Amino acid sequence: MIGESTVQDTSPDVKTTSQSVRSIGINPNHWYAVARSSEVQTELVGVVVWHQAIVLFRDLTGQIHALEDRCPHRQVKLSHGQRVGDRLECAYHGWQFNSAGHCVEVPYLAEQQKLPNCRLRRYPVREQAGFIWLFPGDAEQAERVPPLSLPEWDHLNYIGSVAVIECQAHYSFLMENLMDMYHGHLHQDYQAWANPVLQDLQETNDRVDAHYEAQSYYKIDKIWSISQLFIPALRQLHPEPLNVSYIYPHWSASLGQDFKLYCLVCPIHETATKAYLIHFTSLNAFDNLHKLPIAFRRFLKNRLFGSANRILNGLIEQDVLMMEDEQQAYLNEPDRRNYELNRTIASVQRLIQKQANYGLENIE
Ligand code: FES
Ligand SMILES: [Fe+2]
Repeated sequence: MIGESTVQDTSPDVKTTSQSVRSIGINPNHWYAVARSSEVQTELVGVVVWHQAIVLFRDLTGQIHALEDRCPHRQVKLSHGQRVGDRLECAYHGWQFNSAGHCVEVPYLAEQQKLPNCRLRRYPVREQAGFIWLFPGDAEQAERVPPLSLPEWDHLNYIGSVAVIECQAHYSFLMENLMDMYHGHLHQDYQAWANPVLQDLQETNDRVDAHYEAQSYYKIDKIWSISQLFIPALRQLHPEPLNVSYIYPHWSASLGQDFKLYCLVCPIHETATKAYLIHFTSLNAFDNLHKLPIAFRRFLKNRLFGSANRILNGLIEQDVLMMEDEQQAYLNEPDRRNYELNRTIASVQRLIQKQANYGLENIE
């Protein structure tokens, strides 16, 4: 199906410049996945979202809080300290802060001294679909935009796997990698997808949707089909639609009916990006499975969790090498131009620029 904004990816070489997009900031008025829920237990966890250092902690009821990761006394990281009851305690002199960010205890406070009137910035934070989501922008806007929805996370018909991407490169390189499906060449030994042809490209102020016709090696239509993830001889190429979307600031993709993917992107600074890649294998093709007791289906879902991890980690390793190369080449020669044939890249760069500009407008 060819849409209105159909693009020809066989156009003559187009010189594109991508200088400013390689150091541009983020629109902070979105929810960013900063950790998996399971990563924050009784210890304090420090994370960074675009230059903002933030400490995550769980109070005694299990509720998550997010405060700026900077002790107002001497500016050291609070995440080097510990949780004491429902409070954060700084490692250096033992000042304590409550979950509202107020200093509530200084161990050596003299009788005539008052507690310092300092307050840590508090960030809106939520737990949803196995992740801790944080809103680094204007807290008043947090209720207006929901975090990206991952309906497959709890759905019993989907088997999930999660892998971490840690990349010493600007987030624009990651998003271009995720949206340009012609890079399947890099992953030939993992047989992820093959022969993509861009059919349609749509662009709005908050997303880019690209539709490719491609081929998949995997078909999940028999109960043992999931073993294709481990045994290459069971795989057979067949045509499948491949849809990828940049839903700012995150990404989702589907390959036919059988696979759904998400990438939750957390830009750290100009040359570092962390992201979670989440892969779901659908069991929707198995009607009989749906008749089984819920407890068994839940057991199966939990038991098979992580079954695509080996493939995901292999793909990530190959992608990270390329993205870090791109970053280094850019740092060495920022003015050198790329030759780009896939119009998806220009759409991705436009969306990054638009969103970063909204972020700036909202801060001013
Ligand atoms: S630096 Fe944190 S208590 Fe002194
Ligand atoms: Fe890739």
